[in-house]
Amino acid sequence: MSQAKHFQHYMLKEIYEQPLAVSETAHEKDASGRSLIERVPWSLDELKALNRICIAASGTSRHAGIAGKFMLEALARIPTEVDFASEFQHWPVVLGPELLMLVITQSGETTDTLGAMRKAKKHVGIHTKAGPELSVPSTKAFTAQLTALFLLALRLAEARGNISSEYAQQCAAELALIPEKLKSVLGMDQRCLELGHKYWKHEDFFFAGRGVHYAIAMDGALKLKEVSYIHAEGYPSGEILHGPLALIDDRVVVVVIATCDPSDSESIVRYEKTISNIKEFKARSGKVIALACQGDRNVEALVDDVLYIPAAPDMLSPILEIVPLQLLAYHIAVLRGLDVDRPRSLAKAVVRE
Ligand code: BG6
Repeated sequence: MSQAKHFQHYMLKEIYEQPLAVSETAHEKDASGRSLIERVPWSLDELKALNRICIAASGTSRHAGIAGKFMLEALARIPTEVDFASEFQHWPVVLGPELLMLVITQSGETTDTLGAMRKAKKHVGIHTKAGPELSVPSTKAFTAQLTALFLLALRLAEARGNISSEYAQQCAAELALIPEKLKSVLGMDQRCLELGHKYWKHEDFFFAGRGVHYAIAMDGALKLKEVSYIHAEGYPSGEILHGPLALIDDRVVVVVIATCDPSDSESIVRYEKTISNIKEFKARSGKVIALACQGDRNVEALVDDVLYIPAAPDMLSPILEIVPLQLLAYHIAVLRGLDVDRPRSLAKAVVRE
């Protein structure tokens, strides 16, 4: 951004710092020229011996873990499970050299997450470059976590021979485009304010996404809950048909992530099924806001409002998708006269169990 923009709240400032947080996390090198992941002290044999990953985290960090699962399984082909940190410490985890435990935390102080980490025999740290995040709702830490998880998945995939170095370079090149695409998404701030004015009085929201986009549905819902105190639930799009559909009527807003990478056949399948879900939601006179890729005119005719974002591969698109949902939550909360940086009952780090 050229001009120093004045921000009314830390949350908005930190939303706008995401292009830099992602760029720094993706490209920062140490004195030896090693990236975040390259400096983790593990041997090639240790990487090849891995055959399962457990991720434990809380809140927004766990949503990063859900997206990370998709990346790690798609690229590194390692079965990955994601648990609530508060639950993980009670699970009879079978430890061993073939297990990589990942705990994800913005503050590094969350008691549940530290409890989960104590189960691991050896600890190393991967520190993102998001910088201090002061607002309770986590924004730039989240997109930096997604960036670090993508780099980790690439590193593991390359070390284990799952992907060619050419493909790894293509992925790294796509990641390098994300900071500029994020700046373009930030240009939707006014559009998100308009939607905030349209929907701020609604009391019930669903957020829906398929595949890796489910993680963004979860975090979009959490952002709205945290700052506006509106009841919001994140669901896999298809799962809404199994019960929650009964709740959808003209009082309910459904935010659907309907992005698509036309070069990815599985992304197209997810998209087509999501379009079918949108028709179901509209048939119940739900108000539907779709998040779609620029140029997609198919979705526009089916929904009440569309938020357009630049196209990106499915594994990187979540870094872009969360930003309009952060902005929507922010504007709705401000319109409701609430303190977005210090929401009632919440703390930046929960240091109790
Ligand atoms: C909660 C915050 O207290 O802790 C969330 O309200 C956050 O926004 C969660 O995601 C986990 O915090 P951390 O620091 O472990 O990522």
